[in-house]
Amino acid sequence: MTNVNIPVITIDGPSGAGKGTIAQMLALELSWNILDSGALYRTLAYFMKENQISLDEFQDKQNEIKKRFLVSFDPGIPGEPVRVLFENKDVTSIVRTEEMAKLTSNLAAEPIIREFIKPCQRDFMTLPGLIADGRDMGTVIFSDAKHKIFLTASVEERAKRRQTQLKRQGLEVNMRSLLQELEERDRKDMEREHSPLVPAEDSVIIDTSNLNPEGVVKEIKIYL
Ligand code: DC
Repeated sequence: MTNVNIPVITIDGPSGAGKGTIAQMLALELSWNILDSGALYRTLAYFMKENQISLDEFQDKQNEIKKRFLVSFDPGIPGEPVRVLFENKDVTSIVRTEEMAKLTSNLAAEPIIREFIKPCQRDFMTLPGLIADGRDMGTVIFSDAKHKIFLTASVEERAKRRQTQLKRQGLEVNMRSLLQELEERDRKDMEREHSPLVPAEDSVIIDTSNLNPEGVVKEIKIYL
């Protein structure tokens, strides 16, 4: 159960729908904590890759991994991604690559990984409040959160946004392959058996295709 004294706003939706930007804007405006659950999965994928831990070994090494898997987030500054800190290192640009996204999408479909990440996510729920960004924040992790937002946008618009984001990081990505990868990831996220990407029944769905970030925040505030 979500601690009723700690307010949580969940922001779910597919890749590129604007969750990161909107979660960052809300966290900065309200001075609340931020959980970028996608980045948490990405950091676990990075950790496993670096330490050559296979999925088969995960069960036996869980306790050891748990002790070392201490991730924190800094909302950073508008226009830049939320910063991911792991083992005293800023791993933001390492975990936010398309290669890591692909690896993470496969890993995130595994029940053992989702069960491991669950309590890690709930640990972020501290005062004065939490903005939780992900795929299953409103449906599974903070199912009794008072405010649930589901952001969506056309796949073309989301690919365009992702391309701009990657360009800012100095990475050139072909639009067609970006579109294909997004569609593939959407399919995996929506069709997986465990915690598939679906809007919570009590969520507010906002299509951000034709809205700027300020417009999205304005609309969300109507419901807060
Ligand atoms: O939002 P993102 O692109 O950083 O997420 C990376 C991957 O993690 C993506 O394939 C979906 C998965 N994910 C998930 O399964 N559940 C979440 N709550 C967040 C992300």
